[in-house]
Amino acid sequence: MVGARLASVREAVRGEPDSASAQSELAGVVQELLNGELDASQRGAKRDALCQYYRYFLDDDGRVMPLAVWAYVQRLWPLVECVAVKDRPCRVLDAGCGYGTESYLMALLGCEVTGVELVPARVEIARSRAAYFRSLYPGPLSVQFAAANVLSHLQAGGQYDIIWAMEAISHIHPAQTFVALAAAALVSGGNLVVSDPNRANPLALWRSIAIRGSVRHKTHRRFLDPQTGAPVEYGQEHITSVAGAVALLRNAGLEVTRVAMSGFAGTTILPRWLVRQPVVAALLQRTGAAAARNPLIRGLGTVYTVVARKA
Ligand SMILES: C[S@@+](CC[C@H](N)C(=O)[O-])C[C@H]1O[C@@H](n2cnc3c(N)ncnc32)[C@H](O)[C@@H]1O
Repeated sequence: MVGARLASVREAVRGEPDSASAQSELAGVVQELLNGELDASQRGAKRDALCQYYRYFLDDDGRVMPLAVWAYVQRLWPLVECVAVKDRPCRVLDAGCGYGTESYLMALLGCEVTGVELVPARVEIARSRAAYFRSLYPGPLSVQFAAANVLSHLQAGGQYDIIWAMEAISHIHPAQTFVALAAAALVSGGNLVVSDPNRANPLALWRSIAIRGSVRHKTHRRFLDPQTGAPVEYGQEHITSVAGAVALLRNAGLEVTRVAMSGFAGTTILPRWLVRQPVVAALLQRTGAAAARNPLIRGLGTVYTVVARKA
């Protein structure tokens, strides 16, 4: 059922890339998936990890808020557009996949996905989610996870139609090396899609400083390479502006084909009881969508998603 609904999203996007009905269908599916997964998870470490991970999605009753899912879909949409136009099988690398949410989504959209993540405990959680997602999908769901430094993974070879990096390029260090290796690993016509907090937005900048605990960016070496055991240089919230991200991708010889801004809906700063009111959510959705299109303010969105193409 989920597979069929996502196949219809994919078809709709092929016909009309910016289809509003396809976006709301995807948001509906994501909301059902996440609520269903939380319902199916036993109390314990995995559920706690997921609740912490989805903290900006959940209302005070632990249900996924429609506005938060709408904002998430806005952010993902450029990726969905790339997936929709590729012929199958579409090989996707989810770089720094964390708990693997988009790895599963792309697999449900029919892609062959490899999620690569440095921290083995996160890979364990990503793998443990497979049973739930497989139970929803009629065919074999093509998703696998590797505990590895994505830089070594890319150096080892492999070709991809799409490489996705969400909230990852600000951690993978050095980002320039990642982008160069990703560009080399893409097939001709393949896409590198990067989504991250936008340093030009004061809230995003403040958050990154608060998380790393210093104004100056400092890397740390707290994580070990799961394959070699050597400490890995880790960029802690090394966010860049959307203009910086565009320059980074162009410097690697990629053509930037789409710059989407999102994060105007206020879902992470407004009180949950307010955001979950349907009237307020509808208003925030409208103003958020208008802001993302407005040429004067769109560059200040909290989040960017940039699509680059290899010639
Ligand atoms: C903020 S999390 C984002 C996770 C996921 N993409 C998401 O959006 O939910 C960034 C992830 O990138 C991973 N990461 C950072 N450097 C990495 C590297 N060199 N190789 C593989 N993963 C890395 C981190 O361990 C972390 O789980």
